[in-house]
Amino acid sequence: MFGRAIPGPKGGSSTEVRVRAGRSRDLAGILEVYNHYVERTPVTFEVAPVQREERAEWLREHSSGGRYRLMVAIDPSDRIVGWATSSPFRPRAAYATTVETSVYCRAEFVHRGIGSQLYSSLFESIRGEDIERMVAGITLPNPGSVRLHRQFGFRRVGTFHRVGRKFGCYWDVAWFERPLRGPTPPARSSSVPAPVDARTGARSDPGAGIRTSPQVPAA
Ligand SMILES: CC(C)(COP(=O)(O)OP(=O)(O)OC[C@H]1O[C@@H](n2cnc3c(N)ncnc32)[C@H](O)[C@@H]1OP(=O)(O)O)[C@@H](O)C(=O)NCCC(=O)NCCS
Repeated sequence: MFGRAIPGPKGGSSTEVRVRAGRSRDLAGILEVYNHYVERTPVTFEVAPVQREERAEWLREHSSGGRYRLMVAIDPSDRIVGWATSSPFRPRAAYATTVETSVYCRAEFVHRGIGSQLYSSLFESIRGEDIERMVAGITLPNPGSVRLHRQFGFRRVGTFHRVGRKFGCYWDVAWFERPLRGPTPPARSSSVPAPVDARTGARSDPGAGIRTSPQVPAA
């Protein structure tokens, strides 16, 4: 947990923002921040404001330690000005070592370093967990979110086109990934390596890469 002075909204006096683990009494503030984006933007694909009862289980899942965490940013009056989570990616058991991360700042507090504070704190909190990959999906365009994720070592792996319909439009979602620990891997070639043994980290057959794109003859 740490505090940092950030410029106030619209260039007003600075505000001390602290980040800590979220708890049940934060839920109203979390949803106030989130529902602004639900109702007015495509950055989340929820289409109707989320009610407290719908998130009770979510809150429990994210506040008992382990892989799934919730961090909140609060101003001196204990108002929620942002939150970030690591959440299950997909329900099948083998996906358990992958988490999906999300971050939302109160609309009048964006671009003031709070998203970065939240992600630093979130990633620190899960550093010792049994997590291999973190992934994030970003509805395009969202330059602030793309910038934040790149700064935190996420690499864009691809874009799903027109996968969500909201406000009568179809939206593209860019997916980003990074390992929890260690440097971000270099950009992959089109050859898919053989599977990695989860225990030893060794490839089962180092020479068994599968070509996914046709070989282009040299000119
Ligand atoms: C995306 C979001 C979480 C980023 O948090 P933030 O507090 O605004 O970001 P920070 O101030 O920590 O800035 C991180 C970097 O992104 C840049 N950035 C932030 N907003 C930006 C914007 N609108 N356009 C371009 N760059 C932006 C910052 O300049 C900074 O880069 P720098 O250090 O090189 O200057 C926040 O803007 C937000 O809540 N947006 C609406 C909800 C949302 O889109 N959530 C993400 C869903 S995928």
